[in-house]
Amino acid sequence: MKKFLALILIALILTFGFIVFNKKGLEKLGYTKDEIALIENKLNEDDIKYLKTVDYIDNLKDLLNHQDFSRSKFKDYIKYQNDHPNASINDIINNNQLTNKDDNQDKNDNPPTPSNEFADTKYYIADNLERYLDYMNKNTTMSKQQVVSYVNANLDYDYYTNVVNADLNKDTLILVNKYSKLDSNYEPTDLVKLTGKYNKGNKSYLRQVAYDAFIKLSDAASLDNISIFNVSAYRSYDTQAGLYNNYVNKDGKDLADTYSARAGYSEHQTGLALDVNSVDDAFAYTKEYTWLQANAYKYGFILRYPKGKDKITGYQYEPWHYRYVGLEIAKYI
Ligand code: DAL
Ligand code: ZN
Repeated sequence: MKKFLALILIALILTFGFIVFNKKGLEKLGYTKDEIALIENKLNEDDIKYLKTVDYIDNLKDLLNHQDFSRSKFKDYIKYQNDHPNASINDIINNNQLTNKDDNQDKNDNPPTPSNEFADTKYYIADNLERYLDYMNKNTTMSKQQVVSYVNANLDYDYYTNVVNADLNKDTLILVNKYSKLDSNYEPTDLVKLTGKYNKGNKSYLRQVAYDAFIKLSDAASLDNISIFNVSAYRSYDTQAGLYNNYVNKDGKDLADTYSARAGYSEHQTGLALDVNSVDDAFAYTKEYTWLQANAYKYGFILRYPKGKDKITGYQYEPWHYRYVGLEIAKYI
């Protein structure tokens, strides 16, 4: 018993010592008590250690409080600021959104001088330059930013051309669309069945991670007296083939392609997407939809086919179709 108490005492002394030491380092650099409290709240030990290796940052508070601040990119933000001392907080955040920078790269190199009219545009990819130029010529009213975004999403190609196999290694961020398809025998290995109040459909399986998130979402909705349930979740390649063929027989291929995915091209085959409540345009005018608009992202879900984005998504507005992408990306999107 004595030994046990001694161990607890030592642990307490070490923790207290670490906190004091931590604060001292930050105080020495010039951070105020408020700033230190914010730093300790927003950053982990490793980031704080890193912060202590750089000079006092006078707008750190704004950075940490920015709505798009992402903890996992903290070091990249600081490195970017070092390389671009005049960058605004928005620039720092935006230049690091969704970029996977090579940490071994020397960030202290001078930024390359733009070699063409697109080089400074956000999300510019050098390999796509020819395509940007071509697309710009064909779409003279588009801004450079739009051209870069559209071409990066392959929208300069006809749908169902230049198709690649979807990258399964991307896991919950897998992209399945009219240029990125799943194999006919792809079936997720961790499907879980939605039951009871969470389900009113025959196709009721989701991947475990999406299942867990959907249960949380639906439970949170219930607390607000909102009922959100599945009507169609995982669909196998063959099921999707059957659905699509029925739609083609009913409406013809051109129209069917605006609202139904061809087999292999449906997000439903990932086990990460589901249709909720009512597959009807009128769903957009319900309180359930309003709730989802305000809250779905908090559980890692996004509205995958928004209104007015037909050209980008390749599909008509679907207020009922939600896709799990995880908390961080859902918030960003
Ligand atoms: N309705 C959506 C696009 C699908 O068929 O996957
Ligand atoms: Zn759907």
